[in-house]
Amino acid sequence: MRVLAIGDIMGKAGRQAVGHFLPSLRERFNPDAVLVNGENAAGGFGLTEKIYDQLTNQLGVDCVTMGNHWSDKREFIRFAEQADRIVLPANMMNVNDPAKGVRVITTKSGKQLAVMNIIGKTFMHADNLSPFAHLEKMLNLIPQSVKVRVLDIHAEATSEKQGVAQHLAGRVSLIYGTHSHVPTADERILGGRTGFITDVGMTGPYDSVIGIRKEAAIKRLMTGEKKNFQPASRDRWLCAVVADMDEDDGRCVSIQRLRLEVPEHDVPDRSNDGPEEKDD
Ligand SMILES: [Fe+2]
Ligand SMILES: [Fe+2]
Repeated sequence: MRVLAIGDIMGKAGRQAVGHFLPSLRERFNPDAVLVNGENAAGGFGLTEKIYDQLTNQLGVDCVTMGNHWSDKREFIRFAEQADRIVLPANMMNVNDPAKGVRVITTKSGKQLAVMNIIGKTFMHADNLSPFAHLEKMLNLIPQSVKVRVLDIHAEATSEKQGVAQHLAGRVSLIYGTHSHVPTADERILGGRTGFITDVGMTGPYDSVIGIRKEAAIKRLMTGEKKNFQPASRDRWLCAVVADMDEDDGRCVSIQRLRLEVPEHDVPDRSNDGPEEKDD
């Protein structure tokens, strides 16, 4: 089974990058399942029903994992209860439910895989619960017949992501990090069984500070004042991994990192200083 996992989609620029590249990625890799991290897809903060619908029904995304921004759009909290392709960070303080962090999906090709989402504690909200304890409960919720098990670990610290991955090595097929919005070049297979990368990287505007307009981000770093925190628009990249798993035993046999840049002439709005993005 081949999975294409796309890192944090940041605002309109991120969604444009997905729309630009996904058709050709489907042709090139023919993935059984496409997973995206959608925590920043709506204006950089959270997700809306409309954008969820665009991702799943229009672009054919099989599952949307989330992160610390999952509840930024208030109306999305209720919608997430019924959306059948959302996976929430199970151990986040405002989720705290192993069942919400794991979902077994059946792909269009009729194959089954489990998708999990967990969040870190280090340099994150102090009230998040232990990812280790929640993961044991989440793994117990997956039927034995489902061998391909994929985890989006949404965490700040590279050490925490690697610690969780090494702890789970051999029991999960693929573990990929999200949240830092910076791709790491350490994709590998742990113990001959578990594909891993510390962070897939943001799918969004890299002429920015982790996706936010650089002027506002620099001002906040210099003065502490948080104002005009809006997604940037230029230098759009799609960052993803493609992994192949053996359906009989869940073993990862290959993991490949992708970083694709949207050609600049395709950028509709070249200004980083225009009006605020209205995209949800
Ligand atoms: Fe993010
Ligand atoms: Fe995040």
